[in-house]
Amino acid sequence: MFGLPEIIDNKAEFTIRNATHEDLPQIIKINTEALPENYPEFFFVYHLENWGKAFFVAEADGRVVGYIMNRIETGLGFIRKFIVKKGHVVSIAVLEGYRRKGIGESLMKKGMDSMRDDYGAKEVYLEVRVSNEPAIRLYEKLGFKKVKVIEGYYSDGENAYLMAAPL
Ligand code: ACO
Ligand code: ZN
Repeated sequence: MFGLPEIIDNKAEFTIRNATHEDLPQIIKINTEALPENYPEFFFVYHLENWGKAFFVAEADGRVVGYIMNRIETGLGFIRKFIVKKGHVVSIAVLEGYRRKGIGESLMKKGMDSMRDDYGAKEVYLEVRVSNEPAIRLYEKLGFKKVKVIEGYYSDGENAYLMAAPL
């Protein structure tokens, strides 16, 4: 029997649930490890308290291994050229050892469903580093298109793609 659970576990069991205040230390840790774009704690609290239904974590092996933090904005659409509610994917990350198991895709789908069904968003957008192939592939798999390049968007000078999809 020893060793067998690891083989069975190969596909990685995970669950997606809404984030809570108790999750914030681990969410902030994952954000710090995975991305150069980091934020003060109040920024996470602000999103949790305002758009908590669209803030999710992934749990595996009894701990939080990924998150998606979203917000809702009203403004000119990138897909529809009039004023719409837009979901904004502010930050998503999965711990390095848990990538390529479908967790990021599940987090994105849950976030997009909630932004549409709980908040009435008609489209969703995000910014991503032009060099971030894994994330760009993930977004394209979910129907996002590159809308424009934002020159020097990141603090190190890298450009961003603004990507958007209908909801
Ligand atoms: N290379 C190519 N395609 C990839 C890769 C990769 N390394 N990783 C994911 N994809 C694409 C594939 O199409 C994949 O589908 P497939 O496995 O059937 O081929 C699809 O994305 C779904 O992959 P998941 O396993 O669900 O993605 P994962 O759980 O690995 O999370 C994420 C993806 C969140 C981008 C992860 O790589 C990560 O945490 N990266 C560091 C943080 C980061 O860059 N976050 C995004 C910043 S932009 C923003 O936050 C708005
Ligand atoms: Zn953004």
